Amino acid sequence: MSVVVLDFGSQYTQLIVRRLRELRAFSVLLPGTSPIERISAANPEAIVLSGSPHSLADADAPRPADGIYDLGLPILGLCYGFHLLMERFGGRLTPSTIHEYGRSVLRTACGQMLAGFGPETSVWMSHADSVIGVPDGWLVAASTEENAMAAAESPDGRLVGLQFHPEVSHTPDGSKMLDRFLDLAEVERDWTPGSVLDRLTEDVRDRVGAGRVLLGVSGGVDSSALALLLAQAGIDHLAVFVDHGLLREGEREEVEDALGSLGVRLHTESAADRFLDRLKGLMDPEEKRKAIGGEFVQVFQHVADDQGPFRFLAQGTLYPDVIESAGGEHAANIKSHHNVGGLPDQLGFELVEPFRLLFKDEVRELARLLGLPDAIRLRHPFPGPGLAIRVLGEASPSQVELVRRADAIFIEELKSSGWYQRVWQALAVLIPVRSVGVAGDERRYGSVVSLRAVTSVDGMTADWARLPDDLLDRISGRITREVPQIGRVVYDITSKPPATIEWE
Ligand code: XMP
Repeated sequence: MSVVVLDFGSQYTQLIVRRLRELRAFSVLLPGTSPIERISAANPEAIVLSGSPHSLADADAPRPADGIYDLGLPILGLCYGFHLLMERFGGRLTPSTIHEYGRSVLRTACGQMLAGFGPETSVWMSHADSVIGVPDGWLVAASTEENAMAAAESPDGRLVGLQFHPEVSHTPDGSKMLDRFLDLAEVERDWTPGSVLDRLTEDVRDRVGAGRVLLGVSGGVDSSALALLLAQAGIDHLAVFVDHGLLREGEREEVEDALGSLGVRLHTESAADRFLDRLKGLMDPEEKRKAIGGEFVQVFQHVADDQGPFRFLAQGTLYPDVIESAGGEHAANIKSHHNVGGLPDQLGFELVEPFRLLFKDEVRELARLLGLPDAIRLRHPFPGPGLAIRVLGEASPSQVELVRRADAIFIEELKSSGWYQRVWQALAVLIPVRSVGVAGDERRYGSVVSLRAVTSVDGMTADWARLPDDLLDRISGRITREVPQIGRVVYDITSKPPATIEWE
């Protein structure tokens, strides 16, 4: 059973699914115009209609399959979803070219879903069109200063429309409102880390049986959790960890210790020389990525041949990568760029992707249950091509070593000051210029390292982190003292956009 969220292209659709899952209701996202057969196949207990950048007055405004209204299920319409309900059941809308965006205060709130939420609750609005008449018998369930009809409920309370967005954190009571909807809809609440783990373990056993499974581990939380899941499910597996010489300090040992001690059959392939050789003379970031990706596939294939045969390849694909959403095209492009360095689909294995319905935070929860140490579980994201794209231009072994040492100092200081978990990602980048400095009485040339720390939700946008001056000062002092080839440390104060998180 699930709550099906129909996606009409709002930027918040994945957030709706995440909020519902936080409330322990399993929910999935489907394109708003999905045929009714596809919606029914998801076994819905309730339906949510998302917001949209469209107006119902647009010629190409997307609408759900009419059959959803015949299923007799509770439906929650959010913003554009509210308008869809109004259109379908005879309410009236006024199109507007003026966008209302920002906080509003619910002055009144009543009805089964919203009773008790007024009169001061703030809610987040983001819409152009407004509702100016509800269908016969419906209750106007809330109003704000600007919107006399900010929510409405059908006579039996099974259909509810909200003009505002309960799924965003700017609506502080939003989760409680969604919780009330789930209660009224009598949705099953069994989506807990423990039940998810049981379900995935059972699924993977059913799928794989006694077949042998190969997987690549990178040191990140997804692939590590996947290896643990296979090991603890008793699956015959081999986890391959390619040490390409571009890892962070201590990473290899950390992964080997953690996974090895938790029952994963791990094979580390030491391949630093061949990767660093292959990077000789390469200046262009995309060429570097391709070179690393190509080597990686060859090394992986070699291990597979050597230790095989394997029938299955397990991959830590996550839900955001498989969602086919109205806003998904952009995400897909970004992903394909980053997938350079991953494995191509044509290696000839059957794919097993146990996490394809999970978000990253859900994988982190699973990883906790599986016993993955926090050092790996809560680690910042790290690009597949590793430190190679953190040395601008040619990534020679000596330059890679410099950035590795600077990174280690930066991360160590972030951890000891408590800032590591307050930022989404932190990195050091070696900039290939010679910058002058003084050492004693002498002028001396050294390299420049740029530190970057960002806050973000998913890496798609990011803000530079306001690290305290004294922390930056300590890091800069340590880097220039302990890595004397580095003569200057700068801090990157650019957000994304316009800059990306990585420099290359
Ligand atoms: P950007 O630099 O595009 O990075 O803002 C967003 C996130 O993606 C990571 N990243 C990569 N990951 N292979 C990867 O596996 C890559 O080539 C790659 N480039 C960037 C980056 O570290 C950040 O977390």
